[in-house]
Amino acid sequence: IHSKDQICHEDYQRTADWLLSQTQHRPKVAIICGSGLGMLADALKCQDLFKYSDIPGFPQSTVKGHAGRLVFGELKGKTCVCMQGRFHMYEGHSLIRVFKLLGVETLIVTNAAGSLADSYSCGDIMIIRDHINFPGLAGLNPLNGPNDDKFGPRFPPMSGVYDKNLRKMAFDICKSMGVSQCVQEGVYCMVGGPNFESIAEARLLHRLGVDAVGMSTAPEVLVASHCGMRVFGLSLITNKVVKSYEDNASVSHEAVLEVSKMRSETLQVLVTELISRMDIN
Ligand code: 6GU
Repeated sequence: IHSKDQICHEDYQRTADWLLSQTQHRPKVAIICGSGLGMLADALKCQDLFKYSDIPGFPQSTVKGHAGRLVFGELKGKTCVCMQGRFHMYEGHSLIRVFKLLGVETLIVTNAAGSLADSYSCGDIMIIRDHINFPGLAGLNPLNGPNDDKFGPRFPPMSGVYDKNLRKMAFDICKSMGVSQCVQEGVYCMVGGPNFESIAEARLLHRLGVDAVGMSTAPEVLVASHCGMRVFGLSLITNKVVKSYEDNASVSHEAVLEVSKMRSETLQVLVTELISRMDIN
């Protein structure tokens, strides 16, 4: 992972100032739309759209044909900004600091993940209680490099990052939506990818207490909590991870996208309701 020491506070500020000059929206909430969950942004009213490639000072997308974009708009009267579409994993977390300078106080992350917990089913929604940043344990961390004290401390704590009140609120909303039978709360583990896990790797993660595994989220959450944002995260369980040599199943990106499409409506309602209940604007 590239350390962000080439991008300094002034660079983030320039990008933030440019965005503030281009839109009237002043978001307090940012939403990251995971794989196949881009339609979360479609519900925003009075949209202002910016392709990542049009945002000055912002690293270019390296994933060809998947130009992502920022969508500003209102959700039940609350102003939000959404990261929509695919982006290179290093861009995600640099944008978080731009969001901070825009005035964003709460980050909502969504992702597609495979489940290791035996009690989980395909299509379940997992409220993230905590994460294991596997690349981070090996020294690949977005906070590597000189610390910018203007954003946060050199050695940030990682306990209590996933806000307890928001988790409770989300669970209550799921109850009132009548979907609590497919809602879980658990530990998300980020792995580097781009390959899915081998069976031996899946067994390792399972034994380590991982409930769901994916290839994102930890970098953005680290940078957000470092600069004092409140964080809420959801994993959509798109597949059960193969843990047995007797099992002939195998996962594919297409299958992941299909399940996320199937559940996107539920997720959209949940996220919208959560934002509408927040004590902001
Ligand atoms: Cl099974 N593994 C990883 N690493 N990422 C995923 C996944 C599995 N399913 C969705 N995303």
